[in-house]
Amino acid sequence: MDLKTASGAIGVMILAAGQGKRMRSSLPKVLHEVGGQPLLFHVLDRVKETLPQAKVALVLGHGREQVEAAIRQSERFSSLHLEFIFQEKQLGTGHAARTAMESPWGQALVARKTPVLVLPGDLPLISQGLISQVSWTLNRSSALRLLTCELKNPLGYGRVVRRGVRGAVLRIVEEKDANQREKAIQEVAASVYFFQSAFLWSSLQRLSNKNSQNEYYLTDILAHAVRAKKGVEVLRWENSEDLRGVNDPWELALAHRLFNERTLRGWAARGVIFLDPETTWVDVSVELSEEVRVFPGAILSGTTRIARGTTLGPSVVLKDTVVEEGANIKAGTVAENSIIGSHAQVGPYAHLRPESVVGSSAKIGNFVELKKTRIGAHTSVAHLSYLGDAEVGSHVNIGCGFVTCNFDGRVIEGQRKHKTVIEDRVFLGSDCQTVAPVRIGQGAYVASGSTITENVEPDALAIARARQVNKLGYAKKLRNE
Ligand code: UD1
Ligand code: CA
Repeated sequence: MDLKTASGAIGVMILAAGQGKRMRSSLPKVLHEVGGQPLLFHVLDRVKETLPQAKVALVLGHGREQVEAAIRQSERFSSLHLEFIFQEKQLGTGHAARTAMESPWGQALVARKTPVLVLPGDLPLISQGLISQVSWTLNRSSALRLLTCELKNPLGYGRVVRRGVRGAVLRIVEEKDANQREKAIQEVAASVYFFQSAFLWSSLQRLSNKNSQNEYYLTDILAHAVRAKKGVEVLRWENSEDLRGVNDPWELALAHRLFNERTLRGWAARGVIFLDPETTWVDVSVELSEEVRVFPGAILSGTTRIARGTTLGPSVVLKDTVVEEGANIKAGTVAENSIIGSHAQVGPYAHLRPESVVGSSAKIGNFVELKKTRIGAHTSVAHLSYLGDAEVGSHVNIGCGFVTCNFDGRVIEGQRKHKTVIEDRVFLGSDCQTVAPVRIGQGAYVASGSTITENVEPDALAIARARQVNKLGYAKKLRNE
């Protein structure tokens, strides 16, 4: 075997037109997610890393508008030479490949003798190493290279039939067409092939659908090559995890778990400590740092970025959230599209709704909800409060049970929600409310139990509650004593 990847000129055909009936879902199968990304994106990512110059054809059919839109929206594939090919009826993997080879994309490959790598869209764990090895230049006499692998439980896969036990490959038989003896074979076809394009094209013309599923099987091409005495190279892949296909929800769950384990292992190698990898879920798009400690049950997704020295407590859920150095996010905290400053403490059980910013060394305590709210450095909101559409300065102390009444039914200048501004060094006693729009000036003091409806001047003391009256003996009277 020539140990070099076929340079530059290579075609990649990705089969993704199938409905994925076994998923029992209206979402096209290849858009189901593993590690926070559609199955198909993982395949495209590996192709982009390994063969950035390849001419890629994506065969779409079922839900093709949805799949195409998802790819176009994600700009990261814009550097790929990518073409969409429409397989109107899903008549099998062989028919999908034929549709692609008969398109101008396929005809150009045949004309230029450019080899074709075929990949299914439902192998999210496929690795860069695998793609690069299977697409090494073929020997002159070879028509194709077939990727196989040994599975303890080969149920559902096409079996590789050889002459004798370890002899030359003869054909691939699908599970539904296999007899008992063939079903016992543990070597399976992975649906990954590297073809001489002229051979692939001519061979696809001769496929028949006389099988139990009345489908055109791409796998039948192996038997064509054997019959025509063409060279067939077999690459036996040792790591069967790489070839785990996703056909139903359970296989999706298993692929998700394996992928997550790979992601965590990668971060652990870079100094992240996971107390329980089994219950910690980190999307591939998340970025962690050295000396981050993650307790059991954490779920990190989207564009979340965690800086050095941060602790993420049990069951912390962060989506699209940035956490700066040395912060401590305690148990049960949920944050979305927010920023948590360095050395801030948040939680337990805090809820940061989108567009919230917690300043450095600030403290957000238990059962505090923030929405579109900015909290300054060293400010404390320690217990049981709601702040929405608020701007809070630094070194502010907010007592227990504070509520910004940001919506009172009025629409002012087209806004339904109104702003609360609390300037630096304000002290708010416990159980206060502010009715927005309202501003509390620097250094002001608000007495406990106040409902603030008007602006408070800097350094003023605001008391907005009824004065206490003690009526002597009245309680006794009420009891009719
Ligand atoms: C296929 C192989 C099987 C192999 C297994 C490995 C065939 C006939 N069988 O089975 O030998 O062990 O993969 O994972 O090739 N597709 C189309 N158009 C179609 C049908 C399918 O584009 O008309 C696409 C699907 O979207 C999918 C891929 O081809 O991404 C494979 O199809 P799937 O139905 O998943 O085949 P398997 O049953 O897994
Ligand atoms: Ca499959």
